[in-house]
Amino acid sequence: MSDVTTPSRRNFLNQFGFAAVASSLSFVPTVSPASAQVAGGRRGRFTHGVASADPSADGVILWTRAEPLDRSALPLPLTVQVSLSDDFETVVLEQRVSAALDDDYTVRVRVSGLEAERWYYYRFLTGAGDISRLGRTCTAPSADSASPLRLALASCQNYEQGFYGAWARMVADDDAADDDSKIHAVLHLGDFIYETTPDLPSGARAVRRIDPFPDGATLPSGRGFAVTLADYRHLYKSYLQDEALQAARARWPFICTWDDHEFTNDSWQSYATYSGGEGPAQKRKVVANQAWFEYIPARLDDPAHDFRAAEVEDTDGGAPLDGYLINDSNNLLALASLTIYRSLEWGKTASIVVTDTRSYRAPQPMDDALEANLGAPAPPLEILRALDAGREASGGNPPANFAGAEGDVRNPRADHPAASLLGVAQKQWFKQTLQESTAVWKLWANSIPAMPLRLDLSSIPFQGLPDVAVGIDAWNGYPGELRELMSFVKTEGISGVVSCAGDYHMHGAAILTTDPDSDDPQDAAIEFATCGISSFTMFSGAERFTREPGDPFRPLVVAEAEDGSIIENFNQTLLRGVRSSLATSYTGSDTLAGWLDNDVANPYLRYLDTNANGYVVLTVREDGLTGEIVTVTRADTQSDSAMPAQVQRRAVLTAVPWQPGGTPELTEPVFEGKPPFPFA
Ligand SMILES: [Fe+2]
Repeated sequence: MSDVTTPSRRNFLNQFGFAAVASSLSFVPTVSPASAQVAGGRRGRFTHGVASADPSADGVILWTRAEPLDRSALPLPLTVQVSLSDDFETVVLEQRVSAALDDDYTVRVRVSGLEAERWYYYRFLTGAGDISRLGRTCTAPSADSASPLRLALASCQNYEQGFYGAWARMVADDDAADDDSKIHAVLHLGDFIYETTPDLPSGARAVRRIDPFPDGATLPSGRGFAVTLADYRHLYKSYLQDEALQAARARWPFICTWDDHEFTNDSWQSYATYSGGEGPAQKRKVVANQAWFEYIPARLDDPAHDFRAAEVEDTDGGAPLDGYLINDSNNLLALASLTIYRSLEWGKTASIVVTDTRSYRAPQPMDDALEANLGAPAPPLEILRALDAGREASGGNPPANFAGAEGDVRNPRADHPAASLLGVAQKQWFKQTLQESTAVWKLWANSIPAMPLRLDLSSIPFQGLPDVAVGIDAWNGYPGELRELMSFVKTEGISGVVSCAGDYHMHGAAILTTDPDSDDPQDAAIEFATCGISSFTMFSGAERFTREPGDPFRPLVVAEAEDGSIIENFNQTLLRGVRSSLATSYTGSDTLAGWLDNDVANPYLRYLDTNANGYVVLTVREDGLTGEIVTVTRADTQSDSAMPAQVQRRAVLTAVPWQPGGTPELTEPVFEGKPPFPFA
């Protein structure tokens, strides 16, 4: 997600816009827990909880971090135990592992030999008898099982911008739920950490602070950002001090991908885009990857793989190859240090296809300078499409220039390859994985929304304004490849594709089509986009960035009520179009606003809540899929993480499986609690 701390129109629009111990545990006979306590063992402190990840039908990854109390540089011996009960009366697996300084004392263990579709408890012990907190995890159903999956979607958990009451709510509700309604796993869609601190727009208040970086660097804006391995480790350790986040990681297996902030804001390949700090960042990419690998357990099998150290220098890019991969050895080495795209299976019910939407992508199609030269209020869709297609635009005859505010502006991509977001290799793998999946549902862990959000400025009479994109850091900025993927899904008869996204700090649900710009788009897939657990909401950013007197976008974000209070109408702008929203702002007349609705503003949206913190819970069954979109009290108004945040509303949308070549449909939202405006 775009940097939200520099108030500019572009940002306003774009923001929407161990060496781990990896052991395979084989089945061992039941043993007494006492046998884990080796006489004379060293003491250790379990400082950051426990976690589990990526369940398969016979195993899972277990994780902890344990610091030796004697501060010795020698690895700290540990035992991990797995049990069917939380009292560990019956230990079904036990394995010796160790926490090593080189891995920042993080440990992960690959456990196999477990039974399918079972809940297990686990814990780590030192030889001196220190015991970690209790962890709980589960295995996936066997390949022939049609058991349902309850999967929570989460993203964007900025530590300084809000408390984690959403995590606490998810845990509390799950505790109270009956067995059939309990969540099996969490799909974390990225921005697990944020690499800048303080990460606050001017005038905004941090609810809590991260301690200064061990090393760090400072941007011209005064913000610090992570640079070294110690800095990135510091971020994970700081975030994992939160009790609610620890409780969630201890309660469910997590399936994680990353977004930009695990490395750097609006990152692409191994390059940074900060204003004043942009450019090659291969050294940062490698250490960011290492820290992710240490702190985010994941089953990194083929084609994914464990972290591999890489010696790199920060060097400017070479010429873009096919798919826009920058042909520079340092870039290629940095990217190859860790591969995380992978897939998981949940019986016959679901495949979970996890993509990396950062490491192989082209840069955004338009930068500030180009946008300023064009004199457009935001990236016009038509120019975006031409830039995205590069030399393939207009059937191989790309425009040499665009009409700018003060004369022609050269097309900087006229001789460049077409842009890609997944990169050539990952895209091929993604298509093949979707095609080969025999599961009813193909859940795409996508991190960034694919729903085509735009402002329909062309609907304002006599202004001659173009329709513009709302955010170009997500798929909105890469329309050609999305068109290719959705067309592939449609023509290959791949049904049940559900994009699961985060990043935009808003809740949304939509139909994805083969081409939202064409006259005859074919519906191809469904998308649920979850808002942030704690990050500032899209609406709050838009409201903050349009406070300058006379800002023409202000009426699209808020309407002023007669008593001087403000009414959020940004949802209306996107759902019903800018004319309708302007009518509300200038006249307050719902009738007039209704007359001016633009049905084709964003016709594929089924739900939108731009001022939300919370999460989504998908219930995935052979005969249907339900998305429960949960909005809680805003994280920046919570007073701590321990208290479960109050639920403001739940919006429930459902879909049923469609035949290959058939049409996905998503119901209108059914609400519990007060719907957001303009649903209210
Ligand atoms: Fe985010």
